[in-house]
Amino acid sequence: MKSPTEVGAAWRSWWMLAGGACVVALALFFNAISDIDSGHDSNLVSTPVPVDWLVALALLLAASMLIVLRGVMKQQQALLQANSDVQELRLAHDQLVENLPVGLFTFRSGEVLFSNWAWDEQVMRHPSFPRTKALLQAVSPEDRDRLLQCLERSERKQDTLDIQYEIVNENGKRHFIETRAVPVFDNGGKFQHLLGFNLDLTSLLSIQRDLEEKNQALAKTLGELEDNLQAIVTSLVKVIEAKDPYTAGHSERVMEYSVKIAQEMGLESREIKILRMGTLMHDIGKIGIPDEVLTKPGSLTDEEFDLIKLHPSIGYNMIRNVPLFQECTPIVRWHHERLNGSGYPDGLKGSQIPLLVRISAVADAYDAMTSTRAYRKSLSQLIAVSELRKDVEKGSLDPDVVQALENVLRREQLLPMDAAA
Ligand SMILES: [Fe+2]
Repeated sequence: MKSPTEVGAAWRSWWMLAGGACVVALALFFNAISDIDSGHDSNLVSTPVPVDWLVALALLLAASMLIVLRGVMKQQQALLQANSDVQELRLAHDQLVENLPVGLFTFRSGEVLFSNWAWDEQVMRHPSFPRTKALLQAVSPEDRDRLLQCLERSERKQDTLDIQYEIVNENGKRHFIETRAVPVFDNGGKFQHLLGFNLDLTSLLSIQRDLEEKNQALAKTLGELEDNLQAIVTSLVKVIEAKDPYTAGHSERVMEYSVKIAQEMGLESREIKILRMGTLMHDIGKIGIPDEVLTKPGSLTDEEFDLIKLHPSIGYNMIRNVPLFQECTPIVRWHHERLNGSGYPDGLKGSQIPLLVRISAVADAYDAMTSTRAYRKSLSQLIAVSELRKDVEKGSLDPDVVQALENVLRREQLLPMDAAA
């Protein structure tokens, strides 16, 4: 079969030949006319048709045939071109399908009819081996019936398919395969087959499993680190509180009250974690206060009280450069701040004081009142809550936080259920 280029060259040759024939025919025709005209002038007797006429007629017929032939050849050239385009497209399609990195297949009448090399690789199929048999041999026994039933059901219902199953290779290694398929119809809407593709998720699932294991190990290590950190801080706080037997256990109790208030108020676990560590170390700055001031049994002078008021700033400076304690610094520095601006060290007001700090302030004040000190006996829970309510009325403590503490105490039966504080 000639190529389109060869056909084009042939057509040009034929066209030149037809053109030449037309020129010669026209020349002979005019020459014959001139002979007749000259014959008429010299002799009135009729003359036979000149040979040149016949030759011209023959040439015209030949030229016409060549023109017709040209049309036919042009059509042939277009057909050849279209055929060539179709072949190129088919080749490109076949190459695309064969080189796709996912397994492609078609399924109809319970059989796999077509597959690409990637599908053959996935099911370990030799090119001469029946496809359906190769698939069923490769799929793990526990998944085999389910896969076949799903394929047949999708074909019967002409519906999509999405299924996961395992393939076991010759070495016993399992591959996790996901198959998705869609029904394919012809132009008339008649069902042709299921067109499916297989994705091997083994590597993906393996990475996911590794990540989950690493995350669990990381979370465990982080939990252990936090436990160790809390143990270290607790030990440090106990050393500080050992200076004054009247404050022993204060920080841990403030931590416990704060956590209960936060839970009552519905705070998130992350905030409660910050609150736990922050309240545990809230008085850590007392390590910088002279023992004689810290443990003085009587009332303090103004100068001594000014020294005591330094402990939030001292504690803040101790931990501000420790990344693990960064979120605790507001509680350490501001737990003696008050909403009406009467607190210290920065005289913050209202919304300048974060909620976690407000909670620590209420818990700290409550524990201070309900604990025995060198200069006074402890107050009852009822009186302590009453004092907190007075502070709320003065605008120094958060009413919602005090209410949450009251709810906790009532629930724990530390306050009478019907008593007004
Ligand atoms: Fe304090």
